[in-house]
Amino acid sequence: MSVIKVKVPASSANIGPGFDSIGMALNLYNIFSFEEIDRGLEIIGSLEDKKAKDHLVYSSMVKVFERVGYFPKGIKIKIEASIPISRGLGSSASCILAGVIGANKMAGSPLTQEEIFKIATEIEGHPDNIAPALFGGFVSSLMEGEKIYYNKIDISKGLKFIAIIPDFTLSTRRAREVLPRVISHREAVENVSRLALLISALSNGRFDLLRPALKDKLHQPYRGELIEGFTALMDKIYDLGALGGYLSGAGPTIMAMIKEEDFGFIKEIKAYLESISLGWDVKELEMDLEGAQIVEKP
Ligand code: HSE
Repeated sequence: MSVIKVKVPASSANIGPGFDSIGMALNLYNIFSFEEIDRGLEIIGSLEDKKAKDHLVYSSMVKVFERVGYFPKGIKIKIEASIPISRGLGSSASCILAGVIGANKMAGSPLTQEEIFKIATEIEGHPDNIAPALFGGFVSSLMEGEKIYYNKIDISKGLKFIAIIPDFTLSTRRAREVLPRVISHREAVENVSRLALLISALSNGRFDLLRPALKDKLHQPYRGELIEGFTALMDKIYDLGALGGYLSGAGPTIMAMIKEEDFGFIKEIKAYLESISLGWDVKELEMDLEGAQIVEKP
């Protein structure tokens, strides 16, 4: 039987003050292959230590099959993963999207791109990773009851993104548990102002505004506490000339935005991490503009 191959980019959500509402796709990919087989469920290269039926890719496929009324006899899933798990780089969103896109294709493509977006967002619970991973680029999104709005934003050229990836995981569930239920009106105004400043600065290339624009009162101060040395590392990336820094998604990855022509930053941040005995991974990334793709047609 024919194989359906789906390639999904990593994504970095929240981006400073944009908690649950903005994200961008990055050029790091998970590749998923799907095949309808005679019976059973086979998962090769699993990203999760879970029983096959509870696997996020498979459970996302089942949601689509139930919705469209297609019932395959058996499924084989192969995963070639490059996106690190539970690090704030959209590994879960990639699994959900791949499952939804793969199942839709298997069922003869009855769903539109908008329906794929809606189902995947319902499974994830928030759209800020799903939207960029599906559509590519930098995407803002809003959930209003049943409706989800999104808009792709052109951001000025001239930036590179350096992901500083800790050697430990942080589950989104735990990272959401530490968030406050209520914040003050003044803090809300501050976040709205910073988000407006951030979007405008990224749009017209005022990269000098990124540092104040990327501060946040909704999640970073609380989640930063879960990451030893977070504040010192944020200070360090600015010392080394970064234009901006923020906690990627639910963390623990810290993302530095640097000038395209800054060739020294990576070496220096690696040397710093070594000097404090942290064997964390550092990846230089660019924005992915394509989003999720079916790469091999049967
Ligand atoms: N916006 C989400 C959060 C991203 O910060 O919890 C992680 O799934």
